[in-house]
Amino acid sequence: MSIKSRSAAVQLSQRALGIAQQPIADLMARALANPQLISLAAGFVDQQTLPNEATQGALESIFADPQQARAALQYGTTPGYPPLREALLDRFLQCERLTAEQAHLSVEQVVVAAGSNALLHLVGEVLFDPGDIVLCAAPTYLVYLGTVSTHGAQAIGVTTDEHGIQPEALDEQLADLARSGQLPRVKAVYVVSYFDNPCGVSLPADRRIQLIEICRRWSVEHRIYLIEDAAYRELRYDGDDLPSIRHFDDAGDTVVTTGTFSKSFSPGIRVGWALLPPALVGPVCEHKANIDFGSPNLMQHLMARVLEMGLLDGHIERLRDGYRTKLQTMLDAADELLAPIEEIDWIRPSGGLYVWARLPESIRTGPSGKLFDRAVAEGVLYVPGEYFYPPAGMPTAYNTIRLSFGVQPCESIRLGIEALARAIEQTA
Ligand SMILES: Cc1ncc(COP(=O)(O)O)c(C=O)c1O
Repeated sequence: MSIKSRSAAVQLSQRALGIAQQPIADLMARALANPQLISLAAGFVDQQTLPNEATQGALESIFADPQQARAALQYGTTPGYPPLREALLDRFLQCERLTAEQAHLSVEQVVVAAGSNALLHLVGEVLFDPGDIVLCAAPTYLVYLGTVSTHGAQAIGVTTDEHGIQPEALDEQLADLARSGQLPRVKAVYVVSYFDNPCGVSLPADRRIQLIEICRRWSVEHRIYLIEDAAYRELRYDGDDLPSIRHFDDAGDTVVTTGTFSKSFSPGIRVGWALLPPALVGPVCEHKANIDFGSPNLMQHLMARVLEMGLLDGHIERLRDGYRTKLQTMLDAADELLAPIEEIDWIRPSGGLYVWARLPESIRTGPSGKLFDRAVAEGVLYVPGEYFYPPAGMPTAYNTIRLSFGVQPCESIRLGIEALARAIEQTA
């Protein structure tokens, strides 16, 4: 008997139907389609600095011991490779100058996954129901906005300045939500605490403390978590390291901190981690067990060996030297070529991978405006700032752009800014 095939309609889940395509995908396609274009859009790390030798050395060291090699090639455990989690905890405590007791942290609270995005997603999965609210800086990391909407939750943007999210504005937003009876829907506040994506700004210590106090004070019916995305902590080109937001969470019950080796070592290895409050460890791990029952074990062994062999810190120093020069090149070019244009300014970051610029009010930077196509015609690609704004709350500034200095060599950064200046002059 033969089974006749019928062309039945595909019935996707409501969740899949609700997922919007990341707008940046179209930009990446344009960059790939036109190799002449200088892309100041992609937030990739510098290809030339990727750690071939360190990675090879660490892998050789693992494979020199057949037992170690087999352990690395076997499945791991859901929360991650214990020696890596121990090493991450030690590094964090060292950075913070805290003991495990002072930080209310144990190795059980350190969970490792294939990138910090995966952990941000998992935390959302266990916290957000459809209709819940997440308060974010406006603008903020656009992939996280996609994560929030994937969960059916709503991101609301809070006023942000050159020092990050404004605590007073967050407090007011929460008061407004309480007045309109929506406080029970608020589950979390999300911030990128160091050299954020897209603005390159870091929250000063006093704001870090205020954010925790505000989350605690408004945790009336349930806890409002403060999700601290520390993806760019290591990419600091000037000044001293700041204590994390987690540092100030003296009860250890409010802040979720995520970190990653994607920026400081290699996104291809893709190992990230979260420091979770005790109440979230069980739910996150149970959920993770249903998805992957453990992230790629070889990559975790590799990063543990990289740390053990002391290969990370030297690499970070080299990265800092390279990126510092690139950032300076972009800022110098902007000072020379963009500053003469009226009503244009930009933030001068001291770390990260991005420069955020505000153009004249009359210029819309999105693909439907005039600047975007002119910039492409002049040979440069940027990311329109509108993509980084949450769909509600703080209004979108349509005249903004994000410029990345990580990928291009210095000569191209300068040529890219020259092309951008020409495109703006033709549009203004
Ligand atoms: C703010 C921010 N958080 C997280 C990530 C993702 O990092 P990972 O590779 O660890 O998933 C990125 C990547 O660009 C980022 O910009």
